Amino acid sequence: MTADNHQSIERHFCVDTYVNRGLTLVKGQGVYLYDSSGDRYLDLMSNYGVNIFGYRHPDITRALAEQLEKLTTLHGSFNNDVRAVAAKALVRRCAAGLSRVFFSNSGSEAIEAALKFAVLATQKKRFVAAVHGYHGKTLGSLSATDGQKYRQAFAPLLWEFETVEFGNSQALEEVLSSQVAAVILEPIQGEAGIYPPSPGYLKKVRQLCDRHGAILIVDEVQTGCGRTGPFLASQSEEISYDIVCLGKGLAGGMPVGATLVNDKVANSIPKHIHTSTLGGNPLACAGILSTLNILDKTLRAHVEEVGSYFIDQLTLIKSKHIVAVRGKGLMIGLEVKENRDQLLKSLQRHHILAIPAGDKVVRFLPPFLVQKKHVDLLVTALKQILRD
Ligand SMILES: Cc1ncc(COP(=O)(O)O)c(C=O)c1O
Repeated sequence: MTADNHQSIERHFCVDTYVNRGLTLVKGQGVYLYDSSGDRYLDLMSNYGVNIFGYRHPDITRALAEQLEKLTTLHGSFNNDVRAVAAKALVRRCAAGLSRVFFSNSGSEAIEAALKFAVLATQKKRFVAAVHGYHGKTLGSLSATDGQKYRQAFAPLLWEFETVEFGNSQALEEVLSSQVAAVILEPIQGEAGIYPPSPGYLKKVRQLCDRHGAILIVDEVQTGCGRTGPFLASQSEEISYDIVCLGKGLAGGMPVGATLVNDKVANSIPKHIHTSTLGGNPLACAGILSTLNILDKTLRAHVEEVGSYFIDQLTLIKSKHIVAVRGKGLMIGLEVKENRDQLLKSLQRHHILAIPAGDKVVRFLPPFLVQKKHVDLLVTALKQILRD
């Protein structure tokens, strides 16, 4: 069966809700993905930030294969060796007051749990989120996500959500009151187009939340797990935490969500109120443990070094089509004046895969094993495309 066949079958049998990239990918190795005719593509998007160690990393493959032989799923009402060790390792890795974790199966689910936990901890249902913020598309997470194109059809959404300009602590100060349950923010806005706030912003947000008794929910689904260098992007600000959400690459490519909470929040969550049949399954937990082991200081330093090189090299490209280069570590956005989708298609024709963000941004979320030589390949292709 050919790639064309697979595309038309998917089009026919899957709900048609994704942009179609016209590419059937069947396997991966290292930082490369392969199509059905064996052609190789340089992966600079790691499946929207999931495959942080690329494909077929031997430690991940071994850990998952071994767990597959033992036990794949186990309901949270029974204890499990791997889940216990993974939970302890993850809580210890995040630290700064976080003492417990609730496991689920996606970033959106991690946000759903965070919102419910914030209501339980405060007995309030008013939230503040950011303009252009993205937290997922399930009904609860969609209530925190900005953007009429996602929300309009489903209004009214949950509870009371108000949005303020991202990066502007004064705007936040104006809407905060003792009625607010929680503020929910990404440390760097991803889906919006890779917008890092000025240094000190999160610290200020933390202070404002403390002043008004509001919980701070830090959405690290895209920025976490070493994507920007530190395990959590927000760790560069040395804040204390109430709730942190993780997902994407946390389990080495297995579906996962994690909502980490401090003691105060944990103690306000009654039994039965929020559970998940598959959350914390031993297979995903084996992926989490392996991920935490691989993600050592050396690899995080590599992310920072190659990330700086990546940003520098993009910045050096002289082209009237480029508006800005933004990012941190290996979370990078290249904003162009127009024809962003055309640029993504041209890169794909050069066998380089990147993804969109916002309306005009090409987003790069490469696997952490990417090297400077891969960045050079991208820059050569970009120069040629932009010149043509
Ligand atoms: C910051 C952030 N939060 C939440 C989500 C939702 O995660 P998922 O698509 O796994 O449900 C995403 C997904 O891109 C995200 O970037």
